Amino acid sequence: MKAAYSKSDNLWAKWYAHWKKFSNQPYVSATHGGRFVHNYASKKASGQYAKFENVGKMTHGGVLAKDSFTVTPQGKVSVGPLFLMEKMKAGFNKASGDWRYTLIMPHGQTVGTTNGKGSKNVKFCIDCHTAVADNQDAMFFLPAEFRVK
Ligand code: HEC
Repeated sequence: MKAAYSKSDNLWAKWYAHWKKFSNQPYVSATHGGRFVHNYASKKASGQYAKFENVGKMTHGGVLAKDSFTVTPQGKVSVGPLFLMEKMKAGFNKASGDWRYTLIMPHGQTVGTTNGKGSKNVKFCIDCHTAVADNQDAMFFLPAEFRVK
């Protein structure tokens, strides 16, 4: 996975695999294409992300990543897209809650990034993520049984 995403020119795509992993095993995410996923938070974000529902507002500069893969009935594993959320400075984008959402394909191409190339391609991320309670700052976390304690 790392080899695939690191072809991207996005720095987080090269680094996220060194961040703290918050999932204790891959779990299926219906909202991210029914793929198996893992969740990670950057050094700046992980202290806060670990509070889960009591997170408050994410610090500017915190980054969250979710990598993904699929397994065929024959057992063939394929890398899926990489999903990123980066908390930007206040005023970056009101509608997104100042989060920059980025979607990167397995071969490293960026499908879209908020306020950048293909911004409209990641609008659906904002539409769903902003549906969480206001005090969770657009973060959904992960099902309790898959959380690292
Ligand atoms: C239909 C709703 C929905 C859409 C669309 C969606 N997400 Fe999510 N996202 C979730 C849910 C629910 C979770 C947590 C549970 C899970 O992974 O299934 C989550 C978790 C995440 C996380 C981990 C951080 C967190 O919130 O705890 C990242 C990063 C993420 N999504 C990025 C994206 C990006 C980038 C897009 C668009 C390309 C996107 N998501 C589209 C619902 C959505």
